[in-house]
Amino acid sequence: MKPYDPGSYPFEPDAFAHAIRAFADIMEAQTATEFTCEGLRFYRPHGVFPSPVGAISSAFLQHVLPRCHGPRLLDVGTGAGVYALHAAARGLDVVATDINPTALKAAAQNAERNRLSGIDFRLGRIFAPITPTERFHEILANLPFSRPELCRPIASSPYFTSVCMPEEDSRAFYENVTDHLLPGGRVYFTLGSSADGGMVLDTCTESGIRLSVLHEIPRPDTGEVLLVIEGRLS
Ligand SMILES: C[S@@+](CC[C@H](N)C(=O)[O-])C[C@H]1O[C@@H](n2cnc3c(N)ncnc32)[C@H](O)[C@@H]1O
Repeated sequence: MKPYDPGSYPFEPDAFAHAIRAFADIMEAQTATEFTCEGLRFYRPHGVFPSPVGAISSAFLQHVLPRCHGPRLLDVGTGAGVYALHAAARGLDVVATDINPTALKAAAQNAERNRLSGIDFRLGRIFAPITPTERFHEILANLPFSRPELCRPIASSPYFTSVCMPEEDSRAFYENVTDHLLPGGRVYFTLGSSADGGMVLDTCTESGIRLSVLHEIPRPDTGEVLLVIEGRLS
């Protein structure tokens, strides 16, 4: 794995702006869907990501989950619960959070329909639902990462389910993630070249987290490269 260098990934603002307008339209128009993902069944109501399981979700399932041995795993921004349920199916002890009550309810129902018990679902922003002393072996987060000024709001969702969230939420994640990692713990998160990668790298470095690129997904439609990043406490 190579160290994360935000300057080495291309970004084309015009292509990105165009793609984001199209993406917001798709999100607005989406209806509820049911899908199967690696043997588990999911229901995704309108306004909840993902539909269908895309390249990032596949990367988490193929490249991240096999590295997670827990037993304590936190999935921040669980959406319909895809990673949380797969982690629980592997026997891990999972806490799953989301800011969107519709997403959290769907994730809990998805756990029930797949007969997976023992996932602790908690509603709230970033680490707000986690007590100050709670720590995990692995933290997963496929959160919206693009800079807010680049994004178009989605009228039907107040929860920024598309590509950006308020800057203070991004900072809250990177500034506080070490408080919730056990010694030797790792964080896995998604980032793209539309993110403020310099802020992410500086904040993590200051907190003693070393970032490496685990997986790269070129996105010709948005003119950026999506990354799945591993952060290790150094
Ligand atoms: C891109 S979706 C990913 C969902 C799921 N992890 C997946 O990959 O299938 C981002 C999720 O983060 C949630 N989210 C957005 N802002 C958040 C915040 N500030 N705190 C917690 N969750 C947030 C959204 O509601 C959404 O479910």
